[in-house]
Amino acid sequence: MPSDPIIITIDGAAASGKSTTARHLAEALDLLHVDTGAHYRTLTRVLLDKGIQPERLAADPLALGELTLDTGIEGRRSTLLVNGASVPDALIRTEAINQSVSLYAAQPAVRNCLLEYQRSQVNVALDRGFRGIVMEGRDIGSVVFPDARFRYYLFADPSTRQQRRDNEGLADSVTRRDQIDSSRTQAPLKMPEGSAVIDTGAMDVDSVVNRICSDVKASR
Ligand code: DC
Repeated sequence: MPSDPIIITIDGAAASGKSTTARHLAEALDLLHVDTGAHYRTLTRVLLDKGIQPERLAADPLALGELTLDTGIEGRRSTLLVNGASVPDALIRTEAINQSVSLYAAQPAVRNCLLEYQRSQVNVALDRGFRGIVMEGRDIGSVVFPDARFRYYLFADPSTRQQRRDNEGLADSVTRRDQIDSSRTQAPLKMPEGSAVIDTGAMDVDSVVNRICSDVKASR
């Protein structure tokens, strides 16, 4: 009998090491890597291009309109297609998007639009022959998959995180985004109850990945 899909959730603030960890885990455990930050960035790009401001969504959630969400797969990475089209990384990792994304992500209309899509990624992964998913974000272990067997919360001190963004050459004020992401009403960034907490400032990537891989292998 095939075993249950592996679902690993990785939450944490901006630049806490989620993406690097998730990418390595996908490789090590044959999982589909789903970056939900990219989902919020993509919708932010689409809405900015349509001239729809977050305040307008707050007043009229229907302004989001009918968006069709689909999945493209590139290697082990899942990408969100909106109305059949993907939005290139270069267009969602700009300073303008960094400035706006938390404001859009705080809108219930935007979060509701993505929730079922994100949950559907397990079946997408299995259909494509992966053993499951590793999904990173802010509310994955608390809201999207609160019952997942493997839930982690990564953190590092703010100066380490800001240094990581600076080293990547990205203009991104991580503390400003953290503040907005942690204080919103729906699905705020928080440590999911019962998740394992890992300090990525104190451990290198390989150690973090080995730790999580050991948890998965020990349970199967
Ligand atoms: O991980 P990232 O920095 O690319 O995420 C971009 C923004 O998306 C982040 O500031 C908050 C939002 N986000 C969210 O609200 N919920 C998630 N599950 C993932 C990201």
